[in-house]
Amino acid sequence: MKTLSERIFVALDVDENRFEPLVKSLPSATHFKIGFPLFLRIGPRGIETLKRMGKKVFLDFKLFDIPNTMAEAAGSLAALGADFFTVHLSAGPDHIKRVVEKIKETRPECRILGVSVLTSFNSSNLERIGITTSVADQVLKLAQIGTEAGVDGIVSSPLELKPLRQRFGDSLLYVTPGIRSASAPPDDQKRTLSFREALENGASYAVIGRPIVQAEDPERAFLSIVAEAGSGE
Ligand code: C5P
Repeated sequence: MKTLSERIFVALDVDENRFEPLVKSLPSATHFKIGFPLFLRIGPRGIETLKRMGKKVFLDFKLFDIPNTMAEAAGSLAALGADFFTVHLSAGPDHIKRVVEKIKETRPECRILGVSVLTSFNSSNLERIGITTSVADQVLKLAQIGTEAGVDGIVSSPLELKPLRQRFGDSLLYVTPGIRSASAPPDDQKRTLSFREALENGASYAVIGRPIVQAEDPERAFLSIVAEAGSGE
């Protein structure tokens, strides 16, 4: 059984100078997420550093391309030591299947997560790109594509967790960014809930960036989010 601290991925969207001091200043955090902002600045070194410190690494590149390009990129990235990895479910089942096959070949322990509708999207953003179904229906539709293609989990906002859990039960991991306590600014996120509410709605993991990494004392911010969720840790 995972502790609540082990169910938070800290999103390391920071510059190269802050990376190592920040991770060291967060001894209670065990799971970290690297995306383009940090990877473009320090490359594979970030992953190696985290691994050396015994941390779990989530590589979040949200791949979306033609199947061959997606599979080749996924294989190379997963081989760097990813424990979790993302693809866009909008790429469709055939594209995602190729990624799943490639990652199973190169790093079978890596969990593949399908990104449904970004948490920075609401229904009017969807409409602007020609999708007229509701956000919740679109998330369910994409999650169905993901399960058919063999992903291990779905990334959605905390607001879609209940219908996802209802439909897919314990067969998937549910990972949710868009975490904000009621008093925190939403930044560019549109579909948010607190960590506690996300857990109540069925999240397996939460991804939290700015509320922790931009706090004056990141460890304190991390621990207070855990405490707010009623951990008893
Ligand atoms: O700073 P904040 O807590 O908003 O960071 C959320 C993190 O989760 C960012 O790194 C962002 O790229 C990522 N993410 C997201 N929405 C998704 C998938 C990932 O915000 N659907």
